This record gives sequence, C-alpha cells and structure tokens, in this order.
Amino acid sequence: MTMMKTSLALAAALLPLLAGAQDAQIESKVAALMRRMTVAEKVGQLHQISGSLNTGPASGEDARTQADIRSGKVGSMLNVKGVADTCAMQALALQSRLHIPLLFGQDVIHGYHTVFPVPLGESASWDMEAIEQSARIAAREASAAGIHWTFAPMVDIARDPRWGRVMEGAGEDAFLGSAIARARVHGFQGKRLGATDAVMATAKHFAAYGAAIAGRDYNAVDMSQQQLFEVYLPPFKAALDAGAATFMNSFNTLNGVPATGNSFLQRDVLKGRWNFKGFVVSDWGSVREMVAHGYAADLADASVKAINAGSDMDMESYAHLNHLEQSIKSGKVKMKTLDDAVRRILYKKFELGLFDDPYRFADAAREKAVLADPSHRAVALDVAQKSLVLLKNQGGTLPLSRDAQRIAVIGPLADAQRDLEGGWVVEGDRARVVSILEGIRDHAGKAQVSYAQACGAGCTGTEGFAEAVATAAMADVVVLAVGETWDLSGEAKSRTDITLPGHQEQLFAALKATGKPVVVVMLAGRPLVFNTIADQADAIVYAWFPGSEGGNAVANVLFGDYNPSGKLPITFPRSVGQIPLSYAQPSTGRPVTDEKDVVYKSGYIDSVNSPRYAFGHGLSYTTFKYSGLTISSAEMSPSQKVTLSFDLANTGKAEGTEIVQLYLRDMVASVARPMKELKGFQKIHLRPGEQRRVSFTIDRELLSFFNSQLVWGAEAGDFKLMVGGASDDIRLEGALKLLR
Ligand code: NOJ
Repeated sequence: MTMMKTSLALAAALLPLLAGAQDAQIESKVAALMRRMTVAEKVGQLHQISGSLNTGPASGEDARTQADIRSGKVGSMLNVKGVADTCAMQALALQSRLHIPLLFGQDVIHGYHTVFPVPLGESASWDMEAIEQSARIAAREASAAGIHWTFAPMVDIARDPRWGRVMEGAGEDAFLGSAIARARVHGFQGKRLGATDAVMATAKHFAAYGAAIAGRDYNAVDMSQQQLFEVYLPPFKAALDAGAATFMNSFNTLNGVPATGNSFLQRDVLKGRWNFKGFVVSDWGSVREMVAHGYAADLADASVKAINAGSDMDMESYAHLNHLEQSIKSGKVKMKTLDDAVRRILYKKFELGLFDDPYRFADAAREKAVLADPSHRAVALDVAQKSLVLLKNQGGTLPLSRDAQRIAVIGPLADAQRDLEGGWVVEGDRARVVSILEGIRDHAGKAQVSYAQACGAGCTGTEGFAEAVATAAMADVVVLAVGETWDLSGEAKSRTDITLPGHQEQLFAALKATGKPVVVVMLAGRPLVFNTIADQADAIVYAWFPGSEGGNAVANVLFGDYNPSGKLPITFPRSVGQIPLSYAQPSTGRPVTDEKDVVYKSGYIDSVNSPRYAFGHGLSYTTFKYSGLTISSAEMSPSQKVTLSFDLANTGKAEGTEIVQLYLRDMVASVARPMKELKGFQKIHLRPGEQRRVSFTIDRELLSFFNSQLVWGAEAGDFKLMVGGASDDIRLEGALKLLR
C-alpha cells in the first residue's frame, strides 16, 4: 500500500517532467526534419489551399494542385472531408520528397453530421457542460471523417446585430464569452490532441472582427486599447488558456492596421505577452486583401508583412507560395522568421501523430459508425432545448395543453428543415432534421394539429394568408413559426434592417385579429426587431437555428415537457437606431433616470434607451424568488476573498432551472466603469417549493480592470454587487469596499 502510494506520488511528480520531455522530443523531431528541408519545402508548409467539396476522391483537384501537393508545396487543405477524399489527398502529399503529411481543416462550427444549435443559440443555454458536449460530438464526427482541425470556436464579441456573424459567436459579453470559449476548446480538443477523436481548435478571428463599423462585414474597426483588452480580447485569452492549438486572424483593420499584418496583435500580444505556442492561420485571402486595404503594395509585400507580423499559414492567398522564397533571398524576411512559422506548424503535425500514421484519422468503418451514433441526436436535443429562450408568456399561454386542443401550426418556417440547421453546415444529416410542425405533431398526443404555410420562404406574397386565417379560426391556439431563413445570417450577411423579412409581421397581425392566442416561435441567427409581435403575441419562444433536433426541442418546450431556461447572451434592441447596444452601458454625466424626461439627457427623443429584451433575459414556466443576501464581509483587503450568498426558491408549480447572474459596478475608479458587468452565473435546478443557498466568491481578480496605462488591477473603493435573473431584473443588491 505504502509502496503503491509512493510510486503514485512519484508518477505525479514526474508528470510535468514527462510532459516537458514529450515536448522536447517533438521539438527535436521537428528540428531534425527542418534540417533536411529546402526553403521551398518550408514555404510549402505555410501554404493552405481549399479542396473541392463533394466531388469524390480527389476528382475536383486540378492537375496543378495535385502537382503542388506532390512536390511538397502545400502544408494544409481546407474543405476536403470524408475518409475517401482526405486519404486521396494525403496519398499525394506522401509522394513528396520528405513525405510530410497534410493537415485537413474545416469549418465545423456547430456540429458535423449531427447539427447542433448555431453558436449564439447554444450560448443562450449558459450551460458549459452542454456546450462542451456539443463541441465534443462535433469533434468525434469530424475526426472520424478524416478532419484534423476545426476553424472554431469563433470567440468574437459582437454587440451589433446588423453583423450577420453574431450568429457564430457567444454574444456580447466578455465574461460569458470567455467561459464559452473555454468550453468549446475543451470540447473540440478533448483530453489531448493526438487522440483520434479530437480536432485542433481555432480561436478566431484575431482580433476585434465583431466590432466592424456599422455592423458591415469585413469593415474597419476603430477601438480604444482599453475596450480591446477588456471586452474583445478576453475570450481569446480564455481559449488560449484552455489550450487552443491555433488562432485565425481577421479581415478587418484594427485602428488602421489589418489584423493579418498586425504585429502588435500577433507578435506583441499573442506570441509575446501571452506566449502562444501554436500557429496562426490567416483568414481566407486576408494576406492578399492587405493590398486592397492599401497596407501592402502587392502580393509579395503582403506576404512579407503577414509573416513578419506573426501570421504563419496563408489560407488561399498564394502569397507565400509565390513570393516568400524570394523575400528570404532578398532579406526582407529573415530565415529565423520562416523557421519559427514552419516549426509551429510541424509541431502540431507531430503532436497529432500524423508522422507516425498520416491516415490515423481516416477509418471508413469508424466514420460510418460514428456518424450513425444515435446518442449524438439525444445530445443535440438536450442542447437545443437548453438554448430556447422564452421571451414572453402572457397569462400563462404556454405550456400548451394536449387536452381537446386544436392547434393551428402556421408560418413560412413551420415545416422548414434546412432553416433549422442555420449556416455553416458541412455534412448535415438533412433528411433527418425534425421540423417544428413534425415535432408538434409527434408530441401533440390527443390534440389535433392543422397546418397552413401562409407564405413561402421570405414571405414575399400574401396569397396564402386567407387560408392561414381560416385555419387559425378553427383552432384554439395558433403556433406561428416566423423569422429569418438560414441564409440571412452568417458571413457577409449584414443587414441594415433587422425586422422580420417580407410580410411576416402582417401575417402575425392577421392571425392575431382572429382573437385566438398566438404563440410565436422565432428562428434567427441574430436578435431581430419585431415590435408588434413583442407587444401583442401571447407568447414568444426564440429558437435561433436549433439544429437537427430543433422541432422536437420546440415541441417539448411548447407542451411543457421541458421547462425553458435559456437566457439571452446578447441584447435585443427595439430598433436599429439603438445599435450598438449592450447591457454594459458606459457611464454618462447625464443619465436618463425617468424615460419620460430626456431633455438634455443622454437619451433619444423618439425612443426609450432600454432594449426590447435585455441581456440575460429569459422566462420559465415557474417563478423564482431571491432573498436573504449576505456578504461575508463588507470590506475586503486585496488578498482576501468574500462570499456573497442568497437564497433561491422555486415558488411556482413546475420544476425549473434558473440561471442566476452576478453583476457589479465599480462606483469610482480612475477610468469610469460600465454601469454593470457580469461577473458570475450559475444554473440552479429546483423542484417546486425547493430552496437553495447560492454562493459566489469575490476576489480581487473579479474587481479588476485595465486602467489607462493598460495595467490590470483593482482599485480600492466601493463596489455595488447585484444579483438577479437578467441584467434588467436585479433582485438583490449589496455593497463591498475594497481596501488598500
Ligand atoms: C472565411 C471566414 O471568415 C472564416 O471564419 C472561415 O474559417 C474561413 N473563411 C474558411 O472557410
């Protein structure tokens, strides 16, 4: 026994050494290989090209591409998937002089074959286990299809719903976004890189891409350093700390310098201050785009600027392939800069085990079995349910009763399948996407279900409205499925008008006029503006794009088989004019304290300041009571911690989950602080009548911020602590003084 204990202790003590030794072993293998490489072969490792999807083994690749791969001029490919295709391309790479295997990257953003809710939707679950599990399954499926590397998670903070890519991220908040970044990286990469069910993660888009001016994709970003460090960078740092193997830079300029050629971001912050050991891939063509930006004179110059600034791999610009060798000769790029980039990439190939077996991820039997694993659908259902947000529920309209009810299911998206998947679907199991109508029919029990589409995708015509109204008139309750089609959000899908497309609000009004209760289920990849519906609908379920099991998830919520608990990870404005809008409002000397009085106040003369639905908002079929706040000490020295506690009780009739949120405000500081900052959250499940004491620990770190010298730290003084069920639903407040 003692001996066993001793050897366990010894093994534990040796672990870090062994890990170090393993690293050193890889490093020496990389060094040995690099000694044999020509400059051209090194440059090849930095060149990434896209394959042709869905063309059968290698058939879409032209002779030139194939020749490049055979001669070691390509280090990585994207958009090659499936065991057959990846093997075919890998076989070409292995014909090269040094037999260096290719890395296969792919945008596996929210599932591979089993489609999970879009990332913004998943983020509404505030459920780190569920989010990690979703990424885990995506990795399992993608890796079984020969993929080594996903271009996810997108960890860009986004506060402008005009930007279509809010759909791909975790919303507006740095604290929540950081937690989600960690969960996704852990999910994709599993226990360790090199396991055949793990894929490398990519934290993207470095950096500040989500702050594109006016929400126009690819647009410039102009931002203070404080905002950058406090709001936009933390999720990247969290992803890095969680072990993210790679970073992707971004299309935008940041304060005038393209991110791809930005050595402050990539060299000083990422590889310097943060000591990132993985590699940076450019975004698609972003090296070349530095010419259009007016930052590089030509492609050769762009190549020089990208690599010198710390961008390692070139996705689809052909900049390094065509020019880097020459720049090495002329001395514009130092050999050691090239070597560093190559070393980072080769290291990952060794770490993945590709030099031991370049085909180790490609196993046709595993691919077949894993993609058909029914347990993945169960997780997709679980995550989808957790992502649904009950925005409104007038007079307990929901849940629907199954007893002798006649339910009219109406709307352009009621029987949609493709739209439930959302954007970025690689190999979705489309035939098995459960539509909302199908889900309701399957779960309706004794209730009768009728259906009218009313109008097609985009709802451009009103011809079907009369039939829809007649169907509604025959029913006891209407479920109306409206929203954006899947292709209205995502990359290059910025909108100036984020109201419901076509005549959908009109359709709602026509149905509401029947006098029947109308429950609206809304699909979208972003916060939409839908004021009439918000005012008049009896209930609203925001379903995002909920994935393969979306219809079942929606039905479970509508019938109360699942009590919704999702909370908004992003603010819903009342109008585009309020954008950008975040709960973390900066201070103003002229705050509006009474919405009716905005004279010489920081308000609008034609709108209130408050959002339509606040960050953190989401209802339940039960009610929660918050009481008995205590803070273990009213004062705290910088080295101390205090505990904030309160009682949470389920005061309603249904079992339910509340996401309790902790916010704080630093009352006086050397830099004026936001009115509220999220600093903690927990998901608490309670049976009716059950009560639990909930605690949060507060330490100096939690009270810290970047001062005007960009130094991270907490300043002595008063803090307001707030606890509640949403950023605009604070139930308890307390105070804390940080001592010197
Ligand atoms: C461009 C997108 O910005 C990026 O997110 C994606 O990973 C690449 N294309 C590759 O598809």
